[in-house]
Amino acid sequence: MNLKTTLAPLLGLALLLSNASAQDAKVSFETQILPIFKERCFECHQKEYTDDTGRVKKPKGKFRMDNPTLMLKGGSEGGDLTPGKPEESTVYTSTLLPDDDDMAMPPKGDRLTDEQKNLIKQWIAQGAEFGAWKGAEE
Ligand code: HEC
Repeated sequence: MNLKTTLAPLLGLALLLSNASAQDAKVSFETQILPIFKERCFECHQKEYTDDTGRVKKPKGKFRMDNPTLMLKGGSEGGDLTPGKPEESTVYTSTLLPDDDDMAMPPKGDRLTDEQKNLIKQWIAQGAEFGAWKGAEE
């Protein structure tokens, strides 16, 4: 056995382990994702309401994020949250768009931090489970 064939499986194992530890930590929707959505998305993506000045606020893009069923159903442009596929979920991809893109979310205030974006990505990759969260009524 030469050195290469001896080391190859070890290297493979090391890669496997480092990957596993990065993915092991299961993201909690309620403690890690919901606070981001509440603070940065709900304002424009919740059930229709009337604000202090009497103006009716409708969910933007007809997309509601304050209820799990509706988030999975998606907005007028479709395909907003696909469990297991962050790259096909605009809930995640819209946060990556450059500032000057009309679809960059959230459209005002600071962009999400890299940590927040990664959490959302991981949460979707892990199946986008909502735990016990029921959200607002439909
Ligand atoms: C200040 C208001 C505002 C906030 C805050 C906001 N959005 Fe939006 N969002 C919009 C508007 C307006 C549209 C519709 C844009 C269009 O169709 O041109 C939209 C559309 C979307 C869509 C596409 C829906 C569809 O299918 O048409 C997604 C996905 C989305 N937003 C995700 C998010 C996420 C995730 C956040 C939080 C990180 C967020 N938005 C925060 C205003 C907002």
